[in-house]
Amino acid sequence: MSIVVSIPDVDKTNWWIEQLQALLPGWTIRPIHDPGDVEKVTYAVVWKPATGAFLPFPNLKAIVSLGAGIDHVLADAELPRQMPIIRTVGTDLTQRMREYVALHVLRHHRDIPAIAANQREKRWQQLVVPPATQRRVGVMGLGNLGGAAARTLAALGFETLGWARTKREIEGVITYAGDSEFSEFVSRCEILVCLLPLTVATTGILNAALFERLPKSASIINAGRGQHLVEADLLAALESGQLSHATLDVFDVEPLPAEHAFWPHPGVTITPHTASLIDAPTGSRIVAANIERFEREGSVPDLADAARGY
Ligand code: GLV
Repeated sequence: MSIVVSIPDVDKTNWWIEQLQALLPGWTIRPIHDPGDVEKVTYAVVWKPATGAFLPFPNLKAIVSLGAGIDHVLADAELPRQMPIIRTVGTDLTQRMREYVALHVLRHHRDIPAIAANQREKRWQQLVVPPATQRRVGVMGLGNLGGAAARTLAALGFETLGWARTKREIEGVITYAGDSEFSEFVSRCEILVCLLPLTVATTGILNAALFERLPKSASIINAGRGQHLVEADLLAALESGQLSHATLDVFDVEPLPAEHAFWPHPGVTITPHTASLIDAPTGSRIVAANIERFEREGSVPDLADAARGY
């Protein structure tokens, strides 16, 4: 009975192995590049695994994604067909995303970038912003993280809108569904938060057409995936003043290359994929519980649907 761990960062791999080993003492837990007896490996715990990473393990029962998204697993063209993929979600992760969304929505709402620029110039200027009740904020994607973020924004008093592929009911949130209601939703969002899963349908959804539909000088927050955003379209929308600011947690290429135009851009705030970063002490409890339950029951509530993409 053994588990392999695959994370691009070696220190993080060791950290996870240590934490998981303490919770699963009966298991052999090793890095994927040094797996021991491959026949004994039944689970792979992964973040951004390499292509073909799972092929050496004939008895794999499930792959555990170290995150809510499974796009980084599905990106493997040699992924064994029908392999169950377990997502890692839980209250700690939702809590972190709620904090991130509240922090950055409030920051845009209260125009902190302009206030910070004024401070650099020693300029005392009382910028007047409406109360949150008169600010429309939209959340795209109303799953685990998006639903929690929308509830948090509504509780802060924002006029909160939400959009998802299928209709969701969330108290205090005006919800829209599907392609037919997308345009109307977007046209109302002064601050737009993207928490969609990455699928074929959502790739490039944050593009010039969407930016044009947003109210003038709207801002966006992307804590979904880098591939949701067409980067050149964002730069053009910031340049024209159609968008005033973007807070980005995720990028097409991560880490964001040093020469990327986003780094020095005054209209862009960068966070390094930490919106809802899962740490080993917290996350290993969720992962261990999921592995134990999958062993007992052959399934877990957090099983992803690979055909759907999330
Ligand atoms: C992080 O990006 C996740 O998928 O949870």
